[in-house]
Amino acid sequence: MEKAFVIAVDGPGGAGKGELTKRLAKEFGFALLDSGAIYRVLAYAARQAGLAMFDEDSLVQEANVLSLSFKVEDDGVHVLLGKEDVTKAIRTEENGINASKVAAHPLVRTALLERQRAFRQEPGLVADGRDMGTVVFPDAQVKIFLDASPEVRATRRQKQLEAAGKEADYEQILKEITERDERDRNRPVAPLKPAEDALLLDSTNMSIEEVFATACQYIRSKM
Ligand code: C5P
Repeated sequence: MEKAFVIAVDGPGGAGKGELTKRLAKEFGFALLDSGAIYRVLAYAARQAGLAMFDEDSLVQEANVLSLSFKVEDDGVHVLLGKEDVTKAIRTEENGINASKVAAHPLVRTALLERQRAFRQEPGLVADGRDMGTVVFPDAQVKIFLDASPEVRATRRQKQLEAAGKEADYEQILKEITERDERDRNRPVAPLKPAEDALLLDSTNMSIEEVFATACQYIRSKM
């Protein structure tokens, strides 16, 4: 039997995957998996439990018992850890950096694999991450790798922070983005890289509307 349709969207942080995948899920009536949120919740829970981000064994144990759920509310998808709403708490820069440390451990990634695959259900799934097309859903019917220059990604992040009324130092953001990219691209397991059969989209000089239109056209050609 043909497996449920998956649109895998991978790429570095700040390339616009969040906005693109949200729009695609709505357009095609598919569920949405924000796999980064899973690593972020694990990092957050580990921090609460006083674990070190290099302690792979303890992180695996934490991953195995992680009580994580997504809940759709009027204002978007909320992330719950047990009964605690951690939607905002997991989005801090510090927790993002910890998530990328947690995500570099091979056994942690294995522990979270089936949890992610369970999201593949009819009528279909839009999966947002770093290894959706390469590892988690290697047989996805559509794979897109969305990239953008580090400078453009830092500028977008700076604008997001400012819009949220937070302080945003461009140089600091660029440094953090570059460091996180290095870690994500150079880890031995599931490094951030395009699948061989992925459509490469560079959003450096594209608006979200252009990216969305290009992606939709490509997806329809595969349906
Ligand atoms: O996408 P987001 O910034 O929320 O992801 C946080 C971190 O989680 C990333 O920097 C990356 O290290 C890790 N991640 C991953 N594999 C995924 C999704 C996220 O390693 N599929």
